[in-house]
Amino acid sequence: MRKKIVAGNWKMNKTFKESKVLVKELTKSIKAIPLDNTRVIIAPPFTNLQKASKKTKDTAIEVSAQNMHQAENGAFTGEISAEMLKSIYVDIVILGHSERRAYFGETDELLAKKVNTALKHGLEIIFCFGEVLEDRKSGNHFKVVEEQIKNALFHLDSESWNKIILAYEPVWAIGTGETASPEQAQEMHAFIRELVAERYLSDVAEEVSILYGGSVKPANAKDIFSKEDVDGGLIGGAALNADDFIALVEAI
Ligand code: PGA
Repeated sequence: MRKKIVAGNWKMNKTFKESKVLVKELTKSIKAIPLDNTRVIIAPPFTNLQKASKKTKDTAIEVSAQNMHQAENGAFTGEISAEMLKSIYVDIVILGHSERRAYFGETDELLAKKVNTALKHGLEIIFCFGEVLEDRKSGNHFKVVEEQIKNALFHLDSESWNKIILAYEPVWAIGTGETASPEQAQEMHAFIRELVAERYLSDVAEEVSILYGGSVKPANAKDIFSKEDVDGGLIGGAALNADDFIALVEAI
């Protein structure tokens, strides 16, 4: 049975000290929640990653990086490699976030390389994709999402898909307070699962968790998470507050 996942993307928020406080609150609160088939992941910024990784070691919370470089190592000032992440016991990385695509010029081609490097090092990937508002308005959203997934992931063999978590994040819903309706999310998630089923065996499609991201909050999470093909959420703003994030875990 595929896993339910609530993942918090902290983006460029939280100092070292603030991060310690939030991790402490989360590890304490999570103990009271039955998590049967649910994974809880947090993605703090690089400066807080090692500490968060250490502090969550014996808890139900897993730690992810927000990005990594595609090269093994070398003269890439300011960048972080897959091996560096593994060396601090971080086994998950977010790739393809729309902010990386829009502000740092990450293309499908580059992301395919990052995906390969991450998998080579045994990292699990939360792979993000999603259309901008103009694509949605012009009815192009299915095509755009299909291309993003195909270009970065469809060269992989079936086995590699054990390490892939998909995150559909319509760009027009990220940090805007505007959420896709549960029906819009379900429609896209079902489309994505079908796409994976056509390219791979249906077990691959049935097993892959597909998260929704974009202004998910305690007030709207239950409706979105209740949809058949929505296996959880990638949460930005609401992941920065322990009570909100825990409420989202409870909503799944
Ligand atoms: P948001 O961000 O929840 O603040 O909209 C989601 C994301 O970018 O992952």
